[in-house]
Amino acid sequence: MIRLQKRLGATYTEASEDELAARIGRAKAALGESVLILGHHYQRDEVIRWTDATGDSLALARHAASHPETRWIVFCGVHFMAESADIITGPGQAVILPDLNAGCSMADMADSGDVELAWNELSAVTDVDTVVPITYVNSTAKVKAFVGAHGGSVCTSTNARAIMTWALDLEAGGDPRRDSSVFFLPDQHLGRNTAFQLGYSASDMAVYDPRLDLGGLAEKQAKEATVLLWKGHCSVHQRFTVEQVEAFRRDHPSGLVIVHPECPHEVVERADATGSTNFIINEVEKAAAGTQIAIGTEIHLVNRIRSAHPDKEVVSLDPLVCPCSTMFRIDPAHLCWVLEGLVDGEVRNRITVDEETAALARVALERMLALS
Ligand code: 13P
Ligand code: SF4
Repeated sequence: MIRLQKRLGATYTEASEDELAARIGRAKAALGESVLILGHHYQRDEVIRWTDATGDSLALARHAASHPETRWIVFCGVHFMAESADIITGPGQAVILPDLNAGCSMADMADSGDVELAWNELSAVTDVDTVVPITYVNSTAKVKAFVGAHGGSVCTSTNARAIMTWALDLEAGGDPRRDSSVFFLPDQHLGRNTAFQLGYSASDMAVYDPRLDLGGLAEKQAKEATVLLWKGHCSVHQRFTVEQVEAFRRDHPSGLVIVHPECPHEVVERADATGSTNFIINEVEKAAAGTQIAIGTEIHLVNRIRSAHPDKEVVSLDPLVCPCSTMFRIDPAHLCWVLEGLVDGEVRNRITVDEETAALARVALERMLALS
């Protein structure tokens, strides 16, 4: 991994948890309403305790945009989330990511240069005017800009179905436009799960591998697939398996399995419910006391849900699940470092998207907001 984040000094790395907590508290109080600390659901508890709002990536970016009076937005999440927040907040607001190494391996799987190259390759074999690019919000600002420039839209795990419905023009009468197809970036699983939900079958889809010429597809496949899926995935969610679902069901025949749509399709089709992090939280809330629930998503969120519902038996679907290692990079030491920087008048780790990229990415983000 390229190290983007410089090492913090000893006053941070050697400080005890209690000392860091006291310093964060003091800095936050000194900054008052000029700072808003946002935390994604996958953050660790020692960070979540300082946040003014928690949520999924889009809800957090919207939260930032709805507080134009706030000067500094400290985004405890990953890089693409901070970029989205920068794109949709006003010019007087600055977004800060406490650790620059908090990236997203899935977003990194779709390099904008590779996406351009793929588009050029596709245009040599098919009429790309009929191909609608959709990118999951877990993508770089440059990929969002590419999608905006080519008439497509961003989507989240909550609205992927609505966005794909729009792209394939299904709303008009239920039948897809014969000449319309989707190029879905960068998560093949969310794309596949959404297409299955809309009634498509495996034969309507093809996986585009950016490391191979024409994605490793024959011209006919590239031309005829209704949904072309970029070969990307989330390394955390790809770990969930059919065997884990079966083992849970064996031990808990009346239990519930709830998973995130970044999980493989074989897992999603065996689950009782599938949806975004907010959806998972709400489903557990709705379940009756005593319900046994296995959750297929990042472990910090599963643990937090378990603590919030002592009357239910909540477990991780994967007993050995690892955390999202990039989300985990945000810790109290880095949070303290950026907040103390602001108190001293120094803006550390500001995330900015250049205006040309931001303008096109905003088109794709606003299209999503209008459609969902
Ligand atoms: P949500 O936007 O559903 O919170 O998911 C973000 C993410 O990175 C899931 O892995
Ligand atoms: Fe990216 Fe997966 Fe981590 Fe979400 S859980 S931020 S998709 S690597």
